[in-house]
Amino acid sequence: MPGLCRLLPLLAALCPPALSLRHGPSRIAVVGGGIGGSAAAYFLRQKFGHGVQLHVLEKAVVGGRLDTLDMEGSAYEAGGSVIHPLNLHMKHFVKELGLSVASPQGSLAGVYNGEEFVFEESSWSFINLLKLLWHYGLNPLRMSMWVEDILDKFMRIYRYQMHDYAFSSNERLLHALGGDDFARLLNQSIDEAMQKAGFSQKFINQVVCPAMRVNYGQGVAINGFVGAVSLAGAQSGLWSVKGGNKLVCSGLIYSSKAEVIPGTVVSIEPKTRSKRGGDPVKLYEVTYNTSSGLTGDTYDIVVIAAPLGRKMADITFRNFDPPIPEFRNPYHQTVTTLVHGRLNTSFFGYRDPQAFHFGAIFTTDNPKLFINSLGVVSPVGDTGTGGKLPLPSAVWKVFSNEELTKEQLGLLFSSYDSVKVKPWLAYPQYSTPEKLPPIVLHEQLYYLNGLERAASAMEMSAIAARNAALLAFHRWHGHSASVDQEDLHEKLKTEL
Ligand SMILES: Cc1cc2nc3c(=O)[nH]c(=O)nc-3n(C[C@H](O)[C@H](O)[C@H](O)COP(=O)(O)OP(=O)(O)OC[C@H]3O[C@@H](n4cnc5c(N)ncnc54)[C@H](O)[C@@H]3O)c2cc1C
Ligand SMILES: *[C@@H]1O[C@H](CO)[C@@H](O)[C@H](O)[C@H]1NC(C)=O
Ligand SMILES: *[C@@H]1O[C@H](CO)[C@@H](O)[C@H](O)[C@H]1NC(C)=O
Ligand SMILES: *[C@@H]1O[C@H](CO)[C@@H](O)[C@H](O)[C@H]1NC(C)=O
Repeated sequence: MPGLCRLLPLLAALCPPALSLRHGPSRIAVVGGGIGGSAAAYFLRQKFGHGVQLHVLEKAVVGGRLDTLDMEGSAYEAGGSVIHPLNLHMKHFVKELGLSVASPQGSLAGVYNGEEFVFEESSWSFINLLKLLWHYGLNPLRMSMWVEDILDKFMRIYRYQMHDYAFSSNERLLHALGGDDFARLLNQSIDEAMQKAGFSQKFINQVVCPAMRVNYGQGVAINGFVGAVSLAGAQSGLWSVKGGNKLVCSGLIYSSKAEVIPGTVVSIEPKTRSKRGGDPVKLYEVTYNTSSGLTGDTYDIVVIAAPLGRKMADITFRNFDPPIPEFRNPYHQTVTTLVHGRLNTSFFGYRDPQAFHFGAIFTTDNPKLFINSLGVVSPVGDTGTGGKLPLPSAVWKVFSNEELTKEQLGLLFSSYDSVKVKPWLAYPQYSTPEKLPPIVLHEQLYYLNGLERAASAMEMSAIAARNAALLAFHRWHGHSASVDQEDLHEKLKTEL
């Protein structure tokens, strides 16, 4: 077989171990057990095989920003909750792990501007169509085409990854998918991008802005790329994982046979160990804090799957030459509040509660408003019957930038029996031009969460995880031809 490989370079892919000059790594650390870290463990196992020891270092709980809150005996998604039907990695994980899908029940939506509802959905789709045309002309139809075009380009990532291609920077990854169009989206706000594309300001304020506020807690000043992702998140067919999205994380870690080490990583330092009779080996010393104090371990490869920054995964990079720069990485606070109670419909201008039929309330940008959105939610175990009208007393999920005061809760609800609160550093505080942090921090030290500055979503972390696993593999074995290829989506299409 080795001889054949030398003669026929085309067969090289079939016999990489014989061609590779290096043994596989013996130990890999993944910092963080959210969807990014657990997907990284899964893909690293897939690429490097069974010989490598995999550790997932987690300071809190596996799942990270995917977590549930309990209320009166049922669990509700408190962090990342909905998944797009074209999020292929998430779909694959659920299938591979034998989990099931839950579809959120539909409810009528309204857009509130702090004084009145500027748009009210009707239970008749034909009426809705007329309403949309009346209010916004062809803007809604043009928006679906605009988002579809961006989504089509974005979907090219799956073709690259299926064929094992990796990217060494987030800019290169996005450029290979959407060329200068994607770079331009990062350079301008969703407001500017849509104005330039000819959308009306009324439509942007009343439809686009509320979608940004519910998904990212921020208005239309966020970058155009995350804006487009957010609009895709308003499409139909959204789903979540029955039992809770975090089951994907524990499932992936279990299936990767990685060991979870409870501890907070505090520093990483490169080390060179001389080996008797061989070349010196380069390793990373990872120091972490556990319940029994500071301890550490060495690894050949380290993948950081948590947002870096002082208030985030506060990791010190010791003795790197050149030093690893600190990049600005502010995160936006979103507070999730679950309330079991009756909505005070007068607050929203409906004196008669019987006339109020909204199960989802979105908001426009108004400094007077202390909430970003609120909506009726079902427990994670529920498969949902669909189309059910909200009960007079239901569990509502409220998103706000600050924790709600007692007075504010008293305004929103005429009565309530339980309240659960979870504040998050939820996703980046977006601005323009958006600069994306590097993926490769050092020879074998990788960082996943830079891609979140383009757009934060479960699928984005999974894509970043697969890319990092492929990149680590190719760089370990010196396969430079599999890194940073452009225009392959056309070529690969015909190869399939
Ligand atoms: C309220 C809210 C709503 C959202 N809605 C959606 C949605 O509907 N759909 C969607 O796709 N996305 C949504 N998102 C975004 C989505 O949840 C995130 O993009 C995704 O979960 C990020 O996963 P991650 O693994 O990259 O990061 P995280 O989940 O943050 O994982 C990082 C992990 O690293 C650990 N860690 C941090 N520092 C250290 C350290 N020093 N040592 C060891 N461990 C450390 C943390 O404890 C954490 O478990 C939402 C997020 C929030 C907060
Ligand atoms: C985006 O802005 C950066 C500077 O922040 C610039 O270097 C780059 O060329 C711009 N890209 C596009 C496509 O406009
Ligand atoms: C380790 O954790 C303990 C207890 O939480 C804390 O007091 C200590 O300061 C931590 N050490 C470091 C180096 O972070
Ligand atoms: C409901 O909202 C109205 C209007 O904002 C407010 O005056 C009233 O105090 C709120 N609370 C209750 C319990 O009605």
